[in-house]
Amino acid sequence: MALKVSQVTPAVGAEISGVDLARLSDIDFADIETAWHRHGFVLFRGQTLSDDDLLAFSRRLGELDPPPNQERGRISPPGYPDIYVVSNVLDEKGDPIGALGAGEAVWHTDMSYLDAPPDASMLYALELPPTGGDTWFCGMQAAFAAMPEALKAKLRGRRIKHDGTYNSGGYLRQGVTPSDDPHQAPGAWHPAVCVHPDTGVPTLYLGRRRNSYVEGYSPAESEALLDAVWAHATQPRFTYAHRWRVGDLVMWDNRTTMHRRDPFDTTARRIMHRTQIKGSAQPVAYAA
Ligand code: SIN
Repeated sequence: MALKVSQVTPAVGAEISGVDLARLSDIDFADIETAWHRHGFVLFRGQTLSDDDLLAFSRRLGELDPPPNQERGRISPPGYPDIYVVSNVLDEKGDPIGALGAGEAVWHTDMSYLDAPPDASMLYALELPPTGGDTWFCGMQAAFAAMPEALKAKLRGRRIKHDGTYNSGGYLRQGVTPSDDPHQAPGAWHPAVCVHPDTGVPTLYLGRRRNSYVEGYSPAESEALLDAVWAHATQPRFTYAHRWRVGDLVMWDNRTTMHRRDPFDTTARRIMHRTQIKGSAQPVAYAA
């Protein structure tokens, strides 16, 4: 079957059919990369991937990045330190086999608290609850393109502080001192509007809301500006909610999308395996 790319929404996402990610030609991989740059995330249904297959496919995009430090450190399947487990399931000793539990995970870009955040992340669905646990994506290039000029002007030439204290589930990262002061909290400064290194397209780059701060403004001005920018960016017209099926793999461009997750029943099981690809460069400011 030939590879086919179908847009999911005008703002973000494409579904790619006709490929087996465990047996992928170089020609098909090149088409996947092009679609990924263009649409922000790509979805593949019905895949059957071992952890080795997931790693092999991930490595085609670049060097793997180690998993994030979460509420219980870095939890990986035995023998697979480059895979990050997102799960609410407990092992026989009652310890979580993964991170983020069953609660909501708020909008974020992965690991933007680093100077060079990952270029890409992939999530592969192994076990799913009957309802809930949908993952939402937000197209930040479309959000920037449609942003009112007055809001763009307030962000022009500014950097945003990205917090590394709390993860998207609201948990304190292991070994980190709690803080709600953006100036004291660990993290990184990045341009509020970046340019994609491969396509040259400008994109909003917000990271996560908590402990965020726009440089050059008073704390109150920064909060008001961030509230306005976040309200604009997360409008339904820029977002898509993905209802998972076992065997789905979603690969997102971490530079041009944000994602969040709906909560689900704590008594249901959800197991996802994730990889991320090292940042090839620090985010670059959009000059216009
Ligand atoms: C994540 O933020 O990487 C996890 C998203 C999810 O569990 O769907």
